[in-house]
Amino acid sequence: MRIAVVGTGYVGLVVGACFAETGNQVVCVDKDAAKVRGLRRGKIPIFEPGLEELVKRNAAEKRLTFTLDLKTAVRQSDVIFIAVGTPMGEDGSADLQHVLGAAREVARAMTAYRVIVDKSTVPVGTSELVREAIRRETTHPFSVVSNPEFLKQGAAVDDFLKPDRVVLGVTDQKAADLMVELYRPFTRTGAPIMVMDCPSAELCKYAANAMLATRISFMNEIANVCELFGADVDMVRQAVATDKRIGPAFLFPGVGYGGSCFPKDVQAIVKFSADKKYRFRVLEAVEAVNAAQKQRLLFKVDAMFGKGTKSLAGKAIAVWGLAFKPRTDDMREAPAIPIIEGLLARGAKVQVYDPEAREVARGIFGTSITYAPHAYHALTGADALLIVTEWNEFREPDFAKMKKAMKRPVILDGRNLYDPKQVRALGFTYQSIGRP
Ligand SMILES: NC(=O)c1ccc[n+]([C@@H]2O[C@H](COP(=O)([O-])OP(=O)(O)OC[C@H]3O[C@@H](n4cnc5c(N)ncnc54)[C@H](O)[C@@H]3O)[C@@H](O)[C@H]2O)c1
Repeated sequence: MRIAVVGTGYVGLVVGACFAETGNQVVCVDKDAAKVRGLRRGKIPIFEPGLEELVKRNAAEKRLTFTLDLKTAVRQSDVIFIAVGTPMGEDGSADLQHVLGAAREVARAMTAYRVIVDKSTVPVGTSELVREAIRRETTHPFSVVSNPEFLKQGAAVDDFLKPDRVVLGVTDQKAADLMVELYRPFTRTGAPIMVMDCPSAELCKYAANAMLATRISFMNEIANVCELFGADVDMVRQAVATDKRIGPAFLFPGVGYGGSCFPKDVQAIVKFSADKKYRFRVLEAVEAVNAAQKQRLLFKVDAMFGKGTKSLAGKAIAVWGLAFKPRTDDMREAPAIPIIEGLLARGAKVQVYDPEAREVARGIFGTSITYAPHAYHALTGADALLIVTEWNEFREPDFAKMKKAMKRPVILDGRNLYDPKQVRALGFTYQSIGRP
């Protein structure tokens, strides 16, 4: 099939490369000229495991191309995916300007029947808005499909190639058949392709993300209660996880969820439910708990160094991990941001290290913090280390080397990476989340 993907970000680039990998002819469109120029030279704008190799291979085979020219891309394609951003608006709603803008541009470029697929995460009812926007711009026939994407950053290629399920919201059989055909190569292991109405498809994505966010906030509160009673959240988590009705995934306490999806999607459900006069109380609480949890390490800092605006004046604090989760360079809504802001507000000198997100962080914090080239370097003269992202390379560090580099051997671990007894036996002052 001939496919155009509008929007070449974390989702669009993976979708384009994976469809090319199964033999389709794919053209990826973006309005960011620098991005397109870079991609044409084989420069991948984001860090995502396995993506570079996939893009390069399919580009070399001429199945994957990059362009700024949406018009030609639409003319050459049978199916057009819209995978542009839907950032959070000021009132918490999903901002649809890019999706509707792209839909209008696609419509104006159409010369015959096209299937337009919404891949972006959009509120219930958006497929109807997309349909209307297209109808106003063209007299050609078309189908709109809602096809929410469930990939996880850090494992995006794998998730797309081997999805748990594919969800298709459709209004006609022709588009449904074509989409099922397109996805067949990815579902040979038996993953279901679920065809449904568009509002249900749109809600699937929000329901999944909101459920995962709820588990995280729930466990963070359990961890906070553990701290009050001297209980160990690891024990509680493991016991709860063995219950088959609950299962082990997404039960790890930490410093709150971030990223481009959970925060905005939770708030978007709250908002579009409120628009229909329904108050989604559980998700209001999930979001409030998460905002508080992002401050949790700072409370521990205050408990250790004293409260006050300049409580960390003259102190150096190391931070390991900036990305909102491991295996990505993405810092959108990352807990590291409010944590570093809090440290700076208390007068600390902040020394950070992240294997992939350093350049992204530089765009946020500029020269207000220092960026270490490797993990131990960030510890030089530090009065404490805060662990914010659970990159694998932090799991088995050389504690003797750490101690030697630091001024004071203090670790505040926001991801529960180490065994408290073991680290304390090595002479560290060690605190984590929800463990005695
Ligand atoms: N990032 C994830 O893990 C993830 C997972 C599932 C779903 N989603 C959803 O997918 C959507 C895209 O997310 P993302 O993280 O890939 O966003 P992103 O910001 O990384 O990428 C969006 C891209 O679209 C481009 N763009 C915007 N308007 C355009 C237009 N009119 N024409 C051409 N290009 C245009 C931008 O330049 C940018 O490169 C969002 O709705 C998001 O919620 C994201």
